[in-house]
Amino acid sequence: MKGIILAGGRGTRLYPITRAVSKQLLPVNDKPLIYYPLSALMLADITDILVISTPEDLPQLRRLLGDGGQWGLRLSYAEQAEPNGIAEAFLIGADHIGDGPVTLVLGDNIFHGHDFQEILRNAVATVDGCTLFGYPVSDPERYGIAETDAAGRLVSIEEKPRKPRTNRAVVGLYVYDNAVVDIAKNLRPSARGELEITDVNLAYLRRGRARLVDFGRGYAWFDAGTPESLFEAGQYFRLLERRQGVQVACLEEIAWRRGFIDADACRRLGEELAASPYGRYVLSVVDGGWL
Ligand code: DAU
Repeated sequence: MKGIILAGGRGTRLYPITRAVSKQLLPVNDKPLIYYPLSALMLADITDILVISTPEDLPQLRRLLGDGGQWGLRLSYAEQAEPNGIAEAFLIGADHIGDGPVTLVLGDNIFHGHDFQEILRNAVATVDGCTLFGYPVSDPERYGIAETDAAGRLVSIEEKPRKPRTNRAVVGLYVYDNAVVDIAKNLRPSARGELEITDVNLAYLRRGRARLVDFGRGYAWFDAGTPESLFEAGQYFRLLERRQGVQVACLEEIAWRRGFIDADACRRLGEELAASPYGRYVLSVVDGGWL
């Protein structure tokens, strides 16, 4: 299973903060936003990952993440010259995807919940068509919205509907079989000129090959694309981490626990960062055996 993180766009909803810096590099509590979607892929054991971003932002993302070898990952990078739509990721990433399945995560999406990793790992292990994930929201006009029938089967998806039929948002994490590349190649731009991810999902739905898995109560999902949601995500993780003493999206910890790197390598990474609470946490985990 290959992974793609789509981390481009202009971030206009965060202006002026994002005029000179990529949204995905902004801090959410004590770490860059992109650590969260990257950690989601790592938790599903996806280690071969393409990061797509703008020509301006790629050098900084590369500076932050490198080739991923420090975390036992293989990271590569590709440019999206213009924000032509989320589904363009499958055209830019066609060589990376090759002839296998792919999981796409949006660079500003954050997931947290008790058995999140089991749910995603299960979707990745049993990929057949596409798997979408739903989450209840109070502002459904802002998202792709899914509707299911009484038996729980997906019956419709609408992008930012004026009159939403449900309050179940399709979150920015998508698991696809290899058909996604051909589907993306045959898409036409929408009225707003973008290759829409919802049109990809509708193509799967029409073929009877789309399913929706709900993240219900007990999960937190943030699309950190606005000042409010970015701030709220930071508050949420600050509170959680202070109360529990455990970190969310600590890449060194995940890499070590998933067996991508050994304890010595993890300790070395912690030592490089030891001036920060984050680095000291890495050291405490690998040496102290914290939860
Ligand atoms: O967050 C979930 C929602 O993401 C879904 O419910 C919607 O169906 C989906 O269309 C998308 O809606 P957004 O309004 O959040 O999409 P936005 O244009 O903000 O793009 C999401 C992220 O993808 C953003 O961080 C920037 C990046 N992006 C977006 C486009 C259109 C790119 O890197 N390139 C692009 O061309």
